[in-house]
Amino acid sequence: MYRTHTCGELRITNINQQVTLAGWVQRIRDLGAMTFIDLRDRYGITQLVAYNNAAEDTLKTIRELGREFVVQVNGTVRERSSKNVNIPTGEIEIDINSVTVLNASIIPPFTIQDDTDGGDELRMKYRYLDLRRNAVKQNIELRHKMAQEVRKYFDEKGFLEIETPVLMKSTPEGARDFVVPSRLNPGTFYALPQSPQTFKQILMVAGYDRYFQIVKCFRDEDLRADRQPEFTQIDCEMSFVEQEDILNTFEGMLKHLFKKIKGVDFDNPFLRMTFEEAMNNYGNDKPDLRFDMKIKEITNLVKGIGFSIFDQANYIGGICATGAADFSRKQIDELTEWVKRPQIGAKGLIYIRFGADGIKSSIDKFFSTDKLAEIGKTFDAKTGDMVFILVGDKKKTLGQLSELRLEMGSRLGLRDKNTFVPLWVIDFPLFEWDEETQRFYAMHHPFTSPKPEDIAFFESDPGNVRANAYDCVVNGVELGGGSIRIHDQQLQQKMFKVLGFSKEQAEYQFGFIMNAFTYGAPPHGGIAFGFDRLVSMFAGLDSIRDVIAFPKNNSGRDMMIDSPSVISDDQLKELNLKVELKTEK
Ligand code: AMO
Repeated sequence: MYRTHTCGELRITNINQQVTLAGWVQRIRDLGAMTFIDLRDRYGITQLVAYNNAAEDTLKTIRELGREFVVQVNGTVRERSSKNVNIPTGEIEIDINSVTVLNASIIPPFTIQDDTDGGDELRMKYRYLDLRRNAVKQNIELRHKMAQEVRKYFDEKGFLEIETPVLMKSTPEGARDFVVPSRLNPGTFYALPQSPQTFKQILMVAGYDRYFQIVKCFRDEDLRADRQPEFTQIDCEMSFVEQEDILNTFEGMLKHLFKKIKGVDFDNPFLRMTFEEAMNNYGNDKPDLRFDMKIKEITNLVKGIGFSIFDQANYIGGICATGAADFSRKQIDELTEWVKRPQIGAKGLIYIRFGADGIKSSIDKFFSTDKLAEIGKTFDAKTGDMVFILVGDKKKTLGQLSELRLEMGSRLGLRDKNTFVPLWVIDFPLFEWDEETQRFYAMHHPFTSPKPEDIAFFESDPGNVRANAYDCVVNGVELGGGSIRIHDQQLQQKMFKVLGFSKEQAEYQFGFIMNAFTYGAPPHGGIAFGFDRLVSMFAGLDSIRDVIAFPKNNSGRDMMIDSPSVISDDQLKELNLKVELKTEK
């Protein structure tokens, strides 16, 4: 037997027991008369102690130990004279009888501790060492627990977990595909699934009316803190349901997770908001509702009074930052520079300060105090508040106000990581107009059904057709999205027409699902949650990287296995591929 206990297990109740532990050497402290060793495994750390009068061969082995050596230790559990209240095993130590080195280690490139000295790239290159750190291990454990709870919830509700292929055909989720050449079918390619969307719909045709899967998805898109090229979805589909059934079922899943994992109860149903409300009030389809600070439009109130910046703008709007009247001149200047950064792109920032000493603003020259007070009223500004105003094109300015609102929320400490405000955003537009290509795209995907009452102007005014589509948003993070699907073939043909697909193109790309739908497709709908995002939110982290065992870096590289990598000419030949790299001149 390698070990009788783990390194996180022994307590004061085990005193005087003979035990054997195995683990990694975290730290060695040679104090002359005695040597302390912290031994670590997945379950914790136990202090070992060897006194000078121990057997010579034991002392020799201990002197040769280094950090991250793998050892097996036999000894007696003793009460510690100076206890460590910070760890569960802190009341005891093991008086060493014998030590066996199971394996040596070279010196690790960073310390395996919570506050490690290793930078991001280094930790990714040596991910197996990073994974030994408690901070990372906790996230991996949390991920496991959440996956188990998800499975429990769906199993109890009669869902079947069904695996769908990874080598499949291009899926219509709007990102680029990762493709895999087929050796047996020269010149053709599989695509890795951007999601199992088409397969789960086909499963509905097959009669598996409640499906879920915790599944890897692949999207070749630019990476951000909340995006990885390879990520995991909790993917679900149901038959014989309406939007309301779906929202209730998956609200239940989130409530179950929040309760089981975080101990958080949501007594009331989640808030709901239409896409239009979200855009107008928060400038964003995933508003962070931990704080209010709604965007207000004041175009009609202030335009045409002779202040050229306002007169030339087609949208004027702002937010009221509660309690921000004490922002100094310097802070306002800095915030102005912040909104002018290319990432935000505003031309400037106008402020109205509602101070105890009266109203002061950057537009005093153009507006009377009465007018400023009237503007303040629109925002419900009180003494002590500050109104910030941006102007310009409506869509762009709303986007900038949304960023400013989030920034002010952070600066004013209104975005507490332990407060959770879930929300359903509903009634998304079915189509999105793209200026560049001058055509409509499906906002969600081409199988999303329109609201029945909007079908009448499907072809005459596609931009105004609303979809039976919904997103689940928590604290400003889009955790999931889905829709009720089209199960009627004629409607699906119409959809393809608006999207500019010729009959042949639609047949080539989606023929298999269209065919399946001719054999009795039930009414159905579904949703997918971003599992990595969900776990990182529960872990209180900003990036999903830390909850993925082996993540990719910002250029989509796996630093540890050094991938993607070049393949041999023989392999290329076998796959009928010829790669000509373009070199920049
Ligand atoms: P959607 O594209 O909205 O819907 O994706 C669902 C959820 O997956 C997460 N997500 C990501 N997480 C990490 N990295 C990424 N690159 C990434 N892309 C998406 C998000 C998102 O809300 N088939 C549909 C679902 C359906 O209609 O049932 C779909 O995939 O949290």
